[in-house]
Amino acid sequence: MRDQFLFSPLTVGPYRLSHRVAMAPLTRMRAGRPGDIPRALNVEYYSQRATPGGLIIAEGSPISEAAKGMPATPGIYSSNQVIGWRTVTDAVHAVGGRIFLQLWHVGRISHSSHQPGAALPVAPSAIAAIGNAFTATFERVPFETPRALTTSEISGVIDSYQKAARNALEAGFDGVEIHGANGYLVEQFLQSRTNVRVDAYGGSIANRTRFLLEVTRSVAEVWGTDRVGVRLSPFGIANDSGEVEPLPLYSFAIHELAKLNLAYLHLIEPRASGAGQAEVDRKDAPTASGLFRPIWPGVLIAAGNYTPASANAALSDGWVDAVAFGRLFISNPDLPERIRKGEPLNAYNRATFYGGEAEGYTDYPRLGVAALES
Ligand code: FNR
Repeated sequence: MRDQFLFSPLTVGPYRLSHRVAMAPLTRMRAGRPGDIPRALNVEYYSQRATPGGLIIAEGSPISEAAKGMPATPGIYSSNQVIGWRTVTDAVHAVGGRIFLQLWHVGRISHSSHQPGAALPVAPSAIAAIGNAFTATFERVPFETPRALTTSEISGVIDSYQKAARNALEAGFDGVEIHGANGYLVEQFLQSRTNVRVDAYGGSIANRTRFLLEVTRSVAEVWGTDRVGVRLSPFGIANDSGEVEPLPLYSFAIHELAKLNLAYLHLIEPRASGAGQAEVDRKDAPTASGLFRPIWPGVLIAAGNYTPASANAALSDGWVDAVAFGRLFISNPDLPERIRKGEPLNAYNRATFYGGEAEGYTDYPRLGVAALES
């Protein structure tokens, strides 16, 4: 059988998946506005990609207004957003799929145009990212220097994660994933270039990991640890991130997370930039999943420039338990079916990744009816 490893069952927390072709979290900037509320178009998109026993990790969802950094990203902090997400989760469950929500705080990658009272974005330290922010009106302007969170404010941010986790439960998700990758807030705390704090959240590796662990524990109070996943990008450079010596930091963080019996660890391989903006941007970095596998006893999901063949090989080598596909899931709503049948894959159009309506979102073709029946 073709790609047999991808189509063997897998237990993730309390769930039995029927295959290992997961959908990676993908920001598409198409929520209903005002209010950044999931709408009918988003329901159509996710239900096109749902499969019986398949896992979707829904796009990064801001946990509060201050957590937001891009326009039209569907949040998980207002009651209308909960109602909107419920229509998405109901549609995925109607076909027997599972859906986790990615909890997201962008930290310094925001812009004051998104912030309550047009305040500066917050971050572990007042260090501006190099590059361009997305303003609330879809313009690109240089990042502002963020305001460093005070020690006492940090517990408020952790409370926002917990509230968002509760909202996700109410919205009918099957679990949540903490976005600890790609240069956003959790990673800004982890990495020494973005965290020069001198309190309990900065300095040593243990201190820099504290925020991630406190967020994880507080979200797990709502969900139980076995329905919480964590996404990390140890070798990533997205959004002006990148730890000079990633191994000691990420070995410690993963070792600590391993004590919590989480649903899964989700690692982004350095073969693709975190946000998939380049085809290949680091050829020199090691394979994260292979490297950290020995210290992660639970389910390990990997993402980053996988093809069906390389995914199957990683599974058969025992490096990973499931593979999350990003760009290929954008352009192939029926990706698991195509892989299982060995059918050709649609190419994606980068120009329609972010923002817009149905074009490049819900209009990628499925296999023909004849092919489906063969
Ligand atoms: C992403 N990626 C991403 N990652 C994440 O953790 N949360 C997110 O919301 C997004 N959003 C997003 C949007 C778009 C348009 C792209 C292309 C990528 C990264 C994504 O999940 C994945 O890790 C990369 O795309 C690499 O995997 P592929 O595309 O090579 O399979």
